[in-house]
Amino acid sequence: MSIKLYEDIADSLVKDGYIIIRNTFNSSLINSLTKFAQDEKNYKIAGISSTKNLHVDNSKRRDRTLWLDEDSGVQSEYLEFCNGLREYLNRSLYLGLTFYESHFAIYDKGDFYEKHLDSFRGEKNRIVTTVFYLNKDWDKEDGGELLIYDENDALIETVIPNENTLVVFLSDKFPHEVLPSMSKRHSIAGWFRVD
Ligand code: OGA
Ligand code: MN
Repeated sequence: MSIKLYEDIADSLVKDGYIIIRNTFNSSLINSLTKFAQDEKNYKIAGISSTKNLHVDNSKRRDRTLWLDEDSGVQSEYLEFCNGLREYLNRSLYLGLTFYESHFAIYDKGDFYEKHLDSFRGEKNRIVTTVFYLNKDWDKEDGGELLIYDENDALIETVIPNENTLVVFLSDKFPHEVLPSMSKRHSIAGWFRVD
């Protein structure tokens, strides 16, 4: 897939620490990812892993997740893009990323995710975060915006979770939150790790 896209992401990570890309992939990939994401039977209630023990705390976070699997059709195409990006970032920025993990997430009406960092103190193995959205015709009234803050907790971006939007940011630099969603909201969150 497009080297230009990899270049843009790498350049922005160096310059700003994050990037928001609209119209990321072709429509056939979007359509098949969306179709897969809408099959809800395999999703599980998401946990918070701020300690070693994963637990479910629905005062901080309410969504359902489904981990992507390399061996399965449409997911593997998305994972190929991400693994290509991982290799590109390693070659160009020497990040030494060893692994990419990602999950589909569903936020039902009223679901949210409190302000948090993806990389936890003393456990800094998530280096770069990706979030990709699969919501066609998302309106302002649907809520569910991703708010991104800087290191001083000043709001720097409000991202509408619109279909085919990809957000990439340094996991330990940007606190972020998901505002309550008023409609069913589909996304794929992922993390490049050093283990
Ligand atoms: C996460 C997360 C953001 C989003 O899963 O850690 O911050 O917009 N998701 O879904
Ligand atoms: Mn997050």
